[in-house]
Amino acid sequence: MSSSATPLTALDVVTRLRAAGCVFAEDEAALLLSAATGPAHLAALVSRRVDGLPLEHVLGWAEFCGIRVAVGPGVFVPRRRTEFLVRQAVAAAPARPVVVDLCCGSGALGAALATALPAAELHAADVDPAAVRYARRNLAGLGEVYEGDLFAPLPGSLRGRVDVLLANVPYVPTHDVELLPAEARVHEPRAALDGGGDGLDVMRRVAAAAPGWLAPGGSLLVETSERQAALAEETIGAGGLAPRVVVSEELYATVVIGTRPA
Ligand SMILES: C[S@@+](CC[C@H](N)C(=O)[O-])C[C@H]1O[C@@H](n2cnc3c(N)ncnc32)[C@H](O)[C@@H]1O
Repeated sequence: MSSSATPLTALDVVTRLRAAGCVFAEDEAALLLSAATGPAHLAALVSRRVDGLPLEHVLGWAEFCGIRVAVGPGVFVPRRRTEFLVRQAVAAAPARPVVVDLCCGSGALGAALATALPAAELHAADVDPAAVRYARRNLAGLGEVYEGDLFAPLPGSLRGRVDVLLANVPYVPTHDVELLPAEARVHEPRAALDGGGDGLDVMRRVAAAAPGWLAPGGSLLVETSERQAALAEETIGAGGLAPRVVVSEELYATVVIGTRPA
């Protein structure tokens, strides 16, 4: 008998998720059960998850900094550790900051920052049209979203005015991409993950151009790995900003902050 003919119980869902290797099967089952509009929908959600789709793509949203951000197939799922980058950005921001979120993906960082700092003037950009579609949805009423390569699509009027420049660029070294969990490797765009040979190709381009966009005293904030932190700090410094590394042991997150001298 097909699963659509026999309604799945909560226990069935947990059992299927566990058999498929989901570590947090109970938690995921609760989310899928609450998202399902009926037995057939529940069976479809469970089958997508069992097929390996990221939970957030199945649900259509990810929780980030306490807000729900719309995500779906073809877009990077915001990571819990990146909440540390947002916290650092909020701490670095003046009262009415001009904020740019480069490589914005779904727009999660900008949405979280605009929620924490409602007076912020927010601009976000990504090169991937699918990401831009989600960012426009998540940032509706909060900020402007542009499509294009790094700074290229931003209005020139932002030059020298940006107080907070967030850039969660792809930073996985090319040869490490194949080591990522299938959820990322198979279901997220390669361009959202692959940062080139040492993982810092995109960061280097951002660091080189950032001083021209930052206001005096403004900061660039990038996430990196613990292993890449020293090189990332050097990269940000080479662009002309004063760099420092901050670490959250709780979120296993490393952020480099580069500040333009005031
Ligand atoms: C690691 S994901 C981060 C997404 C989002 N900031 C987040 O943390 O959820 C990197 C993003 O950078 C974008 N990207 C990669 N290369 C880019 C480029 N040259 N210009 C603009 N965006 C780029 C990808 O499309 C992807 O959305």
